[in-house]
Amino acid sequence: MTAAGAPQLGYGIGWRRPIDLTVERLPGVDFVEAIAENVDPRRLFPSLRALRERGTPVVPHGVSLSLGGADRPDPARLAHLAACAQALGSPLVSEHIAFTRAGRWDAGHLIPVPRTWDTVAVVAENVRIAQDQLPVPLALENIAPLLAWPGEELTEGQFLAEIAARTGALLLVDVANLHTAHVNLGIDPHDVLRELPLERLGYVHVAGGVARDGIWHDTHTHPVPPPVLDLLTTLATRAHLPGVLLERDGAYPRDAELAAELAAIRAAAARGQSLREARDAAAEGQGPAAAAAAPGPDGGDAGGPGGRGSGAHGAAGVGAYKAGGQGAARGQAIREDAAADVPGGAGGAAALGPGGGDAGGPGGRGSGAHGAAGVGAYRTGRQGAADAGTGAGAGGSAVHAPAGDGAGAGAGADAPGVHGTGPLGPGARE
Ligand SMILES: [Fe+2]
Repeated sequence: MTAAGAPQLGYGIGWRRPIDLTVERLPGVDFVEAIAENVDPRRLFPSLRALRERGTPVVPHGVSLSLGGADRPDPARLAHLAACAQALGSPLVSEHIAFTRAGRWDAGHLIPVPRTWDTVAVVAENVRIAQDQLPVPLALENIAPLLAWPGEELTEGQFLAEIAARTGALLLVDVANLHTAHVNLGIDPHDVLRELPLERLGYVHVAGGVARDGIWHDTHTHPVPPPVLDLLTTLATRAHLPGVLLERDGAYPRDAELAAELAAIRAAAARGQSLREARDAAAEGQGPAAAAAAPGPDGGDAGGPGGRGSGAHGAAGVGAYKAGGQGAARGQAIREDAAADVPGGAGGAAALGPGGGDAGGPGGRGSGAHGAAGVGAYRTGRQGAADAGTGAGAGGSAVHAPAGDGAGAGAGADAPGVHGTGPLGPGARE
């Protein structure tokens, strides 16, 4: 359990009837989520029973409580969600911060609520009413918005944070929905992640979608795109992820493709986790090669760089930083070397493309007597510019997650035994 009481779930996939057998046999599924409205708690689907019997947690995921509505939560729907949690022995349940109904009208769709202080009060009261009826903790999910209301008073992150603070609810952070909000409304997902109380993280959703005419559609029927995986990595650099779940709701691919998507999700989260651990270790002053990384040119957070030594000669340098905001000098790259000149080891460098967004630039990590591996990774925001990661020593490589209008992207170059430097790549769009 985390400090906020979230259970450790691992990696999972949304259980859906058309893929029930697939979900049962897919390797590496630690937990599943079932749409509560599709579950009859008095007659559980055999597949869900089988998962339960072998100890796989099942999280009921509500889609119709309308917690953002002016009406109080419907007692019958609430009782159903509670009964699902009871029947499935669930560790928690989840719902969206959205409204689906107004009076007798049911939109059948998750509609964003206006981010105002009045709405915070309404949603918080609805959440408290729901919590009183639920036998397990409730996690609240950010939705994929197609529109925003005029006159909003809080940012997306502030809005979610305020509701979490008033209710003690957990957060279900959907990184695909953050990407949707970014494309459709220009909301910087890194700003949202910065504002969220991630110690309250319950679990994370990941899903695929598609852009049509400049609008991102969170279809759950397409592969998970790289920007969404990048956001998962970024989130994992900021917080421990108690659970990560792939949502797939149609156009189901073969088992092998779903397994590959799950593997990519694991890898993306693991990348962020190792960056976070390296940064934390560096912040504790381990290793001989501590160095400071500069903050982004537009202010923001300065991440923790440093170094970690291992073995007789190996060493590791890690540089990471975060550039805040947008609008920094476009096209100007700033770089901060970390952990250079380490005997037999790695020289890592972190570089950032200004212009906002997260940039995590790790350096190298030494291992063994002489070997070393350098890794540079970064992420830039919408107007990000050139970036490169360099790694010295054996197995140096640079990886990156390019993003940004007209941004340069550092392409990783494997450079065994020599400096690997990421050259500028073509512009990429998040
Ligand atoms: Fe979701």
